Amino acid sequence: MYSKRIETILKVLEKCNTLADIGCDHGYVAVEAIKREVAKKAFAVDINPNPLQKAIELSKKEGVFEKIEFFVGNGFEPIREPVDQAVIAGMGGDTILSILSSAKDKVKNTKLVLQPMKDIELLRRWLFENGFDISEEIIVNDKEKFYIIMKTEKSSELEYSDIDIYVGRHIQGRSKESLEYLLRKKEKLRKIAEMKKENEKDFSEEKKVLQMIEEVLSKW
Ligand SMILES: C[S@@+](CC[C@H](N)C(=O)[O-])C[C@H]1O[C@@H](n2cnc3c(N)ncnc32)[C@H](O)[C@@H]1O
Repeated sequence: MYSKRIETILKVLEKCNTLADIGCDHGYVAVEAIKREVAKKAFAVDINPNPLQKAIELSKKEGVFEKIEFFVGNGFEPIREPVDQAVIAGMGGDTILSILSSAKDKVKNTKLVLQPMKDIELLRRWLFENGFDISEEIIVNDKEKFYIIMKTEKSSELEYSDIDIYVGRHIQGRSKESLEYLLRKKEKLRKIAEMKKENEKDFSEEKKVLQMIEEVLSKW
């Protein structure tokens, strides 16, 4: 059994022929996706050779080495063919968007599962502005830390609001975790705004997001 975060990523994956695990590190996602028959073939990429070696060892131990191609490299660069589905998890939103923007052509028909650790608003905005629709967002509370897992792909019909960028579409699911996450985010923003106000700094951004959160909570 992996962490709740990894298990949720695995759960939201759709059955596919090819799956890329970009920034694979330990290789859990690629290895388990093959073992659980979610993907027929996987590509595991990491920019650092040491994590990739761990992934190779795990794949051998789990008997799926033959079904995974391993690459040391940057993002999608080493993968020659477009893949059906890709996971980019455990990195900053800025890194994820830079990986995607260098692979726009390769991912135009790829279902993406993204799990940014920070700069989530930045990533959401980039996705919408570049024609990716976020179909689903799931909030996971894993050992008292909240993670956002989003499913996204290119779409010709795209509508989004500021709430979709700053609060997120996880609110559609109205889950317990989602509510807890929002309340925690509200408290954090409130403290930052208060501190900025005391120091006579501009807190209009925090105020704007707090208003959006209040709006969402009032309809909960
Ligand atoms: C914190 S780990 C996350 C591992 C795994 N995806 C997860 O969610 O548990 C991030 C990994 O991404 C790799 N990485 C960072 N930037 C990358 C890039 N541009 N291309 C490929 N791998 C990258 C790092 O070397 C590291 O192993």
